Amino acid sequence: MGSVARAGDSTAARVPNVLAKILLLVARVVVVIVLNVTQHAPAVAAWRPWPHLYLNTTSATVGGLGFGARATDSDLDLGASKKFEGSSEFVQLRYHMGPVLTANITVHPIWYGRQWSRAQKRIIRSFLRSISPSSSGVPPRRPSVAAWWRTVRLYTDQTGANISAAVALGAEKSDRRLSRGASLSRLDIQGVIRDAVTAKTRPLPVNARGGLYLVLTSPDVAVEDFCGQVCGFHYFTFPSIVGYALPYAWAGNSAGRCPEVCAYPFAVPSYVPGARAERAPNGDVGVDGMVSVVAHELAEMASNPLVNAWYAGADPCFPTEIADLCEGIYGTGGGGAYTGQLLLDRRTGAAYNANGVGGRRFLVQWIWNPILNYCSGPNALDQ
Ligand SMILES: *[C@@H]1O[C@H](CO)[C@@H](O)[C@H](O)[C@H]1NC(C)=O
Ligand SMILES: *[C@@H]1O[C@H](CO)[C@@H](O)[C@H](O)[C@H]1NC(C)=O
Ligand SMILES: *[C@@H]1O[C@H](CO)[C@@H](O)[C@H](O)[C@H]1NC(C)=O
Repeated sequence: MGSVARAGDSTAARVPNVLAKILLLVARVVVVIVLNVTQHAPAVAAWRPWPHLYLNTTSATVGGLGFGARATDSDLDLGASKKFEGSSEFVQLRYHMGPVLTANITVHPIWYGRQWSRAQKRIIRSFLRSISPSSSGVPPRRPSVAAWWRTVRLYTDQTGANISAAVALGAEKSDRRLSRGASLSRLDIQGVIRDAVTAKTRPLPVNARGGLYLVLTSPDVAVEDFCGQVCGFHYFTFPSIVGYALPYAWAGNSAGRCPEVCAYPFAVPSYVPGARAERAPNGDVGVDGMVSVVAHELAEMASNPLVNAWYAGADPCFPTEIADLCEGIYGTGGGGAYTGQLLLDRRTGAAYNANGVGGRRFLVQWIWNPILNYCSGPNALDQ
């Protein structure tokens, strides 16, 4: 069981390790950041030369985060045409011959916990519906969530088929009674899915072709390694537990637990002087933070559903996947402790980078672009 649980670690939205973000001054003009986020992280950690982030090693030692620090022109002399949201030289993303989700995708949320409000569910549903908005409605403004998904669609399988553009919100299930308890192990998450697909009333459909099962826990639920190591993870269910191998993910509402870790940048660590939290676009720090974790896991489930398709690193137990490579990057120039350039909602002052259906706005992390060989997103200023 230990090794099973360990294998699950590999495919997680990992907790950013503050110490690992310590910036290294390699040469007078080149600042390099190591974003080697966990002790398990493989050797392919994304090294990124960012000119936008001014490194002051003195202040950086305070928690290792240089919030809001920017480079000035004189600090760094790198050419303006160079890309900084990732670096191709150190990232060897490879295709390992397994399937990707080329059939229409249907996402099945499972709301686990007592504290899910209708308003909170609406935020997450709107995000899921925004990935492929119906052609009949008013198309969301640019930059859009649908455009964010376009980077994910660049991944193909052996036959050359791309990841599907069609992502629908499917049947949902609620577990308010905490049938597996208020503290879940990684394997308990599979139990929650088993309960949902075998329920006596309105069981979730078993869809092995394009079904994704998303266990979403409210703040009253503790999950193994939540906050300490991960904010979410994905894997596939075991036939011995659920009856089928179905790609699934978990993401938790970190409000009251560790929003400064899992709902960053809507909350920031209090020990970092001068750190300023961004305002959440839907007014809910925990759920707005979850949206980016959900996005991260969806991108990885689509490109690596059985953990044998797209990832970097030599060890398949600890792969670095297409969203891992861009964790914490939400805009041009992003990296380290800098989110990159975000859009600002003039009315509310909230930070966002993608428009969705119904006028909603979201902040979602960027995804590794296999053609450009750096991270990209819908709000890129120069792509
Ligand atoms: C770095 O930060 C320290 C402490 O905030 C400050 O005294 C020093 O002048 C800074 N160095 C540079 C080069 O900005
Ligand atoms: C896939 O989704 C598209 C767009 O939503 C739809 O037109 C098509 O009929 C679906 N195909 C299948 C096989 O369900
Ligand atoms: C499919 O993937 C290939 C290879 O990355 C890419 O060139 C192409 O633009 C993709 N097609 C779509 C529709 O995204």
